Amino acid sequence: MTEAKVNDRMEKIVSLCKRRGFIFQSSEIYGGINGFWDYGPLGAELKRNVKEYWWRAMTQMRDDVVGLEATIIMHPKIWEASGHTSTFSDPMVDCLLTKKRFRADQIEPQSGKVYSFSGAIDEAAIKAVEKFLEERDPKPRFAAAALVESLVLGSVPSYLAEQMRTEVQKYIDEATKGVVRSGFGPAFELKRTVSEAKQSKESYSVLLPPGKNPLSAYKVAKQFYQQRGVPYPNFLGEQVSEVANTTRYNPENGSLLTEPRQFNLMFKTYVGPVESEENVAYLRPETAQAIFAQFKNVLEVSRQKVPFGICQIGKAFRNEINPRNFTFRSREFEQMELEFFIKPDEVTQRTLGAPPPDADLSAPQPNWGWQEWHKYWVNERVKWYESIGLDRDSLDFYWQKKEELAHYAKATVDILYKFPFGAQELEGIAARGDFDLAQHQKFSGKSMEYFDEEAKVKYVPHVIEPSAGVDRLLLALICNAYHEEPVTDEKGNRETRVVLKFHPRIAPIKVAVFPLLKNRPELVAKALEVRERLRSEMAVYYDEAGAIGRRYRRQDEAGTPFGVTIDFETLGEQGPELKDTVTLRDRDTMEQRRVKIGELAPLLLEKIR
Ligand code: GAP
Repeated sequence: MTEAKVNDRMEKIVSLCKRRGFIFQSSEIYGGINGFWDYGPLGAELKRNVKEYWWRAMTQMRDDVVGLEATIIMHPKIWEASGHTSTFSDPMVDCLLTKKRFRADQIEPQSGKVYSFSGAIDEAAIKAVEKFLEERDPKPRFAAAALVESLVLGSVPSYLAEQMRTEVQKYIDEATKGVVRSGFGPAFELKRTVSEAKQSKESYSVLLPPGKNPLSAYKVAKQFYQQRGVPYPNFLGEQVSEVANTTRYNPENGSLLTEPRQFNLMFKTYVGPVESEENVAYLRPETAQAIFAQFKNVLEVSRQKVPFGICQIGKAFRNEINPRNFTFRSREFEQMELEFFIKPDEVTQRTLGAPPPDADLSAPQPNWGWQEWHKYWVNERVKWYESIGLDRDSLDFYWQKKEELAHYAKATVDILYKFPFGAQELEGIAARGDFDLAQHQKFSGKSMEYFDEEAKVKYVPHVIEPSAGVDRLLLALICNAYHEEPVTDEKGNRETRVVLKFHPRIAPIKVAVFPLLKNRPELVAKALEVRERLRSEMAVYYDEAGAIGRRYRRQDEAGTPFGVTIDFETLGEQGPELKDTVTLRDRDTMEQRRVKIGELAPLLLEKIR
């Protein structure tokens, strides 16, 4: 997709999200707050459905996974043990002109001409020097030249400095001949003007991409020096050079960036009334660590045996340097994480022998090692994505290279969704060894060991971690569902129908109920009765306003998979055989069929579960 098309599609999706109440900018009435998003009525339903379905699939439908709901703020030692305090950081650079912040490793390499300056001085100094150079009486001119040479030469552009040097040389020649004896008054005047002129000695440079007018580089540099207090900057020490594949410049305006600095992404706060170092706490940057910290408690109460898992859904916070792509990279988001604890390979192999290389990975076996479990969870997670409408073709996989892996990780695969702005991570599935539990054992002094009754041995379990982001998944589901289709309306006009083809399982509203006409009380009463019958089983929306075609379109945009219309046939006015039947419209095919009211609920339930 071309960049324009990507932008166009994303713009339409963002606009639909706002128009239909899926996603709003947080604090919009105050201009918004970057990296924070609110879910409106439809978004809240969609999110709830996705989380509930994940929870069901991960815990309720399995015997070997239990749930946890931990606090957001935890003991700060947790983050020391996990390594977040020391290493959870990104390299950050700031634009020297606009102060906009970027992640250094996300800047696309650029090539072009670099215009560099050693500083700038205000026009007032230039004017004074020029005036001095035009002075007719040679005495003050020569005297001044000698006096201000050291002062002025470093502060004026090179062509003026050159003229100054010539003047000074002339003065020296004349003085040697005994011609010049006085005339220092104007020299002091010039000295004062130059030294009082606003100037900046800060060096700066601007990247000019090929084909761009050099004036734009000067314009950027002018703004930079104006910000540093030089009202009418004249550049000093200008040089132009070619560069290739540099990441030192702001891709948006060519301005030089600061040197990269490491920036810890955890949000800090204080617990209690005193804002002191010992009261510092963090908003959790991932839900996973609470699972490790509660491993022993959960193990004791749940009567689980390794291999087993603990999962959690909850908020996570990261002070992202550059939130972007709508909700994709936010500062407050939700995660759905599973920590699945397994036996160390040496224990399994000693007791049961290693599984064959071509082992069937569809059903867990007692002799599986970390590689089998890792692949198993990748498959499970892909099946789950398929079950909510993200088919395999819409996904991609990225196996992290050895040099990209965290030092403790044995393997990590990212499941990517092909967003309009590129294939990007939805979920990471990592084999983390025993790193986390071992770290908490070390930092807390509490044992994290498990006694394996079968193997008759104690060990710190290893972990496979499928970790997904709820907000990213929602964005993927909305992008995936978004369709524009040409249709013909009731009057024969061609129009474009915007439809969100959500899987019925996760659709915010499952069925909309419409009386054909709102001014016919019998139709309205029957429609309300149908709504009441369905309401206890699923999310129902009742709509009586406007032409029926318009009402269908509204529900298409909301992603409602089914529409039920109560018409005169329902009332039995077209014959007794159609009495108490309704029209059931399918959102995707737009096909309509007649269904008995009594059969509606089981029929719909079958589709939405
Ligand atoms: N416990 C492992 C962990 O947190 P991660 O790859 O940093 O791993 C897991 O995060 C998932 O959380 C990501 O795949 C993504 O879906 C989601 N996520 C991470 N940072 C996010 C952000 N800034 N905004 C939205 N989702 C994010």
